[in-house]
Order: sequence, then C-alpha cells, then structure tokens
Amino acid sequence: MIEAVTAESLAKAVKALQAGECIGLPTETVYGLAADGLNPEAVAKIFQIKQRPSFDPLIYHLAADMELSTVASDIPEEAQQLVKTFWPGPLTLVLPKQLTVPDVATSGLPTVAARCPDHDAAQTLLQAYGKPLAAPSANRFGRISPTTAQAVQEELGESITLILDGGSCRRGIESTIIDCTGETVKLARPGSLALEEIEQITGPLEVLSHDGPPSAPGMLKSHYAPRTVLYLSRETYQPGMRAGGNHGYLVLTNTGHPARDVLELSGSGDLVEAGVRLFGAMRELDARNYQSIIAFPVPDHGMGRAINDRLQKAASGYVVWREGNWILK
Ligand code: TXA
Ligand code: MG
Repeated sequence: MIEAVTAESLAKAVKALQAGECIGLPTETVYGLAADGLNPEAVAKIFQIKQRPSFDPLIYHLAADMELSTVASDIPEEAQQLVKTFWPGPLTLVLPKQLTVPDVATSGLPTVAARCPDHDAAQTLLQAYGKPLAAPSANRFGRISPTTAQAVQEELGESITLILDGGSCRRGIESTIIDCTGETVKLARPGSLALEEIEQITGPLEVLSHDGPPSAPGMLKSHYAPRTVLYLSRETYQPGMRAGGNHGYLVLTNTGHPARDVLELSGSGDLVEAGVRLFGAMRELDARNYQSIIAFPVPDHGMGRAINDRLQKAASGYVVWREGNWILK
C-alpha cells in the first residue's frame, strides 16, 4: 500500500524492516526495494520479489552520519575524496566489503556497492533504522525502473505491504557507479551524476567495457525494458521520420511539430529534464500498446550519456530510416 511520509508511516517502515520485510523506498534517483542490509534472509527476499537472478548484486544505502566503513573496507583516498564531494548524492562506490555484509547481497563478490541517497524521507528512515539498507531499483527484473510510488505499485504492488510515497524522483535515472577496487577508479555505470563532474575530481576515467561478463546492471541485455518492443534509431530525430503503422516515438524534443505518437523528453532539449522524464515517458508509451516504440539517441554528454545507456539496454535492436520506413540494422 502507498503511504505518504509521516511519523506514523516511517515508524511502520522501521517495524517492517525489523521484521525482515521489504518496503518501497523513495530516493532522488529511482525508487528502491529496501530491506535490512545486514539480515541475509531479508536480503534474499529482495531477490525473490524482484525475480532477480542471484548473480546481480545489490546497492547499500547509508545514512549521512553513517561511516562508509560500516559496509566497506580499504577505502582509497580517491574514494574518500568522491564521498566528501558528492555524498549525499547519486554516486555509488564499489569497494572491498566488510565481513558483516552478507554474501547473498553481493552475489558472493568480495566487494560491495554503497551510496548515500540525497532524499529527506530516505535519510530520515535510514537514521531512524540505524543500519544500512540494501536496495535495488523497485522494478521486476529487466523492467523499467520506477520514479513514482505508483510505478512501484504497478511493478511490485502485490508483493510488498508498504511503499513510502516521497513524490516523483528528482533525478529520474539511477546513480552513477564508480569501481574503486582497482589501481585506478573506473566508471562502471553511467548515471545521474555526470561523468564530467566526477572527472573534475579524478581526472579522465576509464569506462568499463559493455562487452564481456556483466559487472554492472545495465550490462545484462534488455534491462529497463518496456513490454512493447523498443528499437533504437541509429540516426538522430528529424520531424517527419514516422512510418505507417502503429508506432510510438521517444525523442528529446519535437517542439513545433506536435503529434500524439511522438513523446518528447524536454521541450527545450534540456538533458537533465530529459533524464528526469525518461522512465515515466517509457511507461507512458508502453501503456499505449503500440506495435513498437522507436527511440532516438540524445547528445552523449552530461545526463545524455546515462540516457543513451538506458535506451541501449532497453532496446531489442537498432533501426535506420530508409525511404519512409524503419529497417532493422
Ligand atoms: O540509484 C540507484 O543506484 C538505485 C537506487 C534505488 O539507489 N539503485 C539501483 O540498484 O539502481 P540496481 O539493483 O538496479 O542496480 C545495482 C547495480 C547492480 O546491478 C550491480 O551491477 C551493481 O549495482 N553492483 C552492486 N554491487 C556491485 C559490486 N559489488 N560490484 C560491481 N557492481 C555492483
Ligand atoms: Mg535496476
């Protein structure tokens, strides 16, 4: 059930967590499916409810006054610098884990992912609970991440008893993940914190390849996916690039060419606004039951990098525009 954030619903959330149950947790990025991070049975429930494969590890959420060393060890200077600069905020660090972190949460890895969410309700709950919460995005595995309490209800409503309603997520795309376990820090998943901002602290970052075995979420094929098949255009959008048939189009901006089947992410072409709206727009197009959704890439900088990443992961294939038709390519 969705409940507004009040002293009563927060107390209810604490009780549920103490009893080893999972709750819907608002954050600034997307809603999480949270459980007591130090209780292995509670953590196992997250995997069950999400139908998430056991090899896909979770992210730990910390209160602002909680030491990172509660869950992580051997924290390099560069990671401490990033914490100082960007926490609370949409930045997740992967570090060697503490023994207290159950193996089920990290999928048996010797490392743990942790972040400090920049959201009042999340922080109030974390502080009241006094322990870190493990929480992946609150969607069924492979589906679009939820950015409202209603979207959590749609995804998982039958399997959880409490969803705290913290409003629409301010950022709309998951946290940026930085791997701090090697000699140099690396980008493991683009997200709400722009790479350019992080590089001001770290200098140029290596980007972990999308090929090879998955080490960050998006690396599993068909993540963030609507039920309707979604194709990603290899070409940038021009008004009029619409074939016959029953298709929906997802574009950065279509101002001056209003059309019901073309959904724009930002009237002014603003990439931050586009990021905030991305998952909601995908849900909206999905609900219209088109034959397919054609999405267009956005400029690949700032939030655009994370938007393009999510579109690629959601796509079943690429298409090109040829003589008034979309061709698979
Ligand atoms: O913004 C966010 O990060 C949201 C909110 C709820 O905090 N959470 C989120 O969780 O996006 P999720 O489960 O959808 O993505 C977590 C990803 C995993 O898929 C995994 O690839 C990566 O974080 N991860 C977790 N632990 C890791 C580890 N030890 N090493 C490498 N990657 C890890
Ligand atoms: Mg996810």
